[in-house]
Amino acid sequence: MNSSDRFRVVGGKALHGEVAVPGAKNSVLKLMAATLLAPGTSTITNVPGILDVEIMSELLTRLGCTVTHVRDVVTVDVPERPSFRADYDLVRKMRASINVLGPLVARVGRAEVALPGGDAIGPRPLDMHIKGLEALGAAAKIEHGFVIAESADGLTGAAVTLDFPSVGATENIMMAAVLAAGTTTIDNAAREPDLVDIGEFLIAMGADISGLGTSTITINGVKQLAPATHATVPDRILAGTWAFAAVITQGDITINSARADHLELPLEKITAAGAVVTRFDNGFRVRMDHRPKAVDVATLPYPGFPTDLQPMVIAMNAVSDGTAIVTENVFEGRFMFVNELSRLGAQIHVEGHHASITGVGELSGAPVMATDIRAGVGLVLAGLVSEGETIVEDAFHIDRGFPGFAEALCALGADVSRI
Ligand code: UD1
Repeated sequence: MNSSDRFRVVGGKALHGEVAVPGAKNSVLKLMAATLLAPGTSTITNVPGILDVEIMSELLTRLGCTVTHVRDVVTVDVPERPSFRADYDLVRKMRASINVLGPLVARVGRAEVALPGGDAIGPRPLDMHIKGLEALGAAAKIEHGFVIAESADGLTGAAVTLDFPSVGATENIMMAAVLAAGTTTIDNAAREPDLVDIGEFLIAMGADISGLGTSTITINGVKQLAPATHATVPDRILAGTWAFAAVITQGDITINSARADHLELPLEKITAAGAVVTRFDNGFRVRMDHRPKAVDVATLPYPGFPTDLQPMVIAMNAVSDGTAIVTENVFEGRFMFVNELSRLGAQIHVEGHHASITGVGELSGAPVMATDIRAGVGLVLAGLVSEGETIVEDAFHIDRGFPGFAEALCALGADVSRI
C-alpha cells in the first residue's frame, strides 16, 4: 500500500458471489488496549489485516508490551508495570489510541495520552471520557496537548450517567471500572456490539460485568484480572457495506462470517428498498433484481442505523427511485462526503444535518476524494454504478478500514484496480 494510491472503478457490473467478513476494526483495537489490564500474555484472534492494528501494536510496544502478529492472531505480553505515555505521533495516526486511557489509569495509576483533535467527520471531544474517569476518582487535566489522568490510590466505583451513549467513553469508563474498588454503574451507556465484545473479553479476564448490550452496565470491581484469549466479533460495518453493494449494483452477494443480528435496521432498510435478505447460521445473502426504492434513514447510536453506513445508504439513494431524507445525528462533519458524491452527478441537497437525495438513473464517473474511511468506501460503491471511470483519490483511508476491498470487489465481478 502507498499513500498516493488511488482506486480506479469502472461502473456497470452487478456483483455476484461470496465474501467473508473479518473481525471488527472498532473492536480489535480496544481489545488490544484491554490486554493492558492484566500482566501476562493475552491472545486476540480473528484480527483484521488493517494498518491500525500495526499502529496499536507499536503503541503497546512503546508501553513496554511484547506484541506478536501472525496471520489473524495477535498476542500481547503485558509487563507487571507498563509505562503510561501515548505520544502524538501515534495518536494522530489513530484516534483509537485514546482507548489506552482507562486501562492505564486502572492498572498503573497514571495515563498520559496525546489529544487526538478533530478529524474529517467533525470535532470529537473527550469530555465524557474525562468526566467518567473523574467520577471514579481520577484527577484529570489537559496540559501541553495531553490528557493526563492520575489516581495514585486506585479508582473507586461510582454512578456515571453519560450525556450521550458514546461508544468510546463507555469503553474507557468500563475498562477503568473493572479494577476499581466497589461498584460502578454506567447509565445511558452505548449498546454497540463492538462494546459488548470488549465487555465479554473483560469477563473472560475475570471482570464482573452485567448489563452489556443494555443502557445500564454494572461493573463490580475486582482486585486483578488474568490474561485471556478472545475472538474479535465480525465487522458489522463491512458486512453492511457488502449488503449495500449488492443492492446498489443489483447483484447477489452471500456474506459469510457475519452477524445479521447486528444489522437489524440496515437489513430492514434494504428490504424496504426492495432487496431480498436470507439469513443463515454464519451469515446472510442479499439479492436485488431491480432499481432500489428510496428509503429515509436517521443515524443513531446502536440499535439505530450506524453512522458508519451513512455514506453507503446515501450512495444507494443517489441511484434509487424517488427522494429520501438521510439525517445524520452522530457526527456533524459526515456530509463532507456529499460534495464528492455530487461530482458523480448525485442530486443531493443538504440542510443542516439533513440530506435530501433524489435518485438518478445512473451516476457519471469522475475523480473524487476519499475524506475518511467510510466516505471512501461509499464513493467506491457509487463508482460501481457510475457510467465510465471513477478515480477515488486517497485510497489509504479505505485501506485503513477495509482490508482487501479492491481484491474482494474484483472477485465479485467488479472492474476495480489500484493505480
Ligand atoms: C466509534 C467508532 C466510529 C463510529 C462511532 C459511532 C471506533 C474506533 N470508532 O467512535 O467508527 O462512527 O463510534 O458509532 O470505535 N462525544 C462527545 N464527547 C465525548 C465523546 C463523544 O461529545 O467525550 C460525541 C462525539 O463527538 C460524537 C458522538 O458523541 O458526536 C458519538 O461519539 P462516540 O460514540 O464516542 O464515537 P467514537 O467512540 O469516537
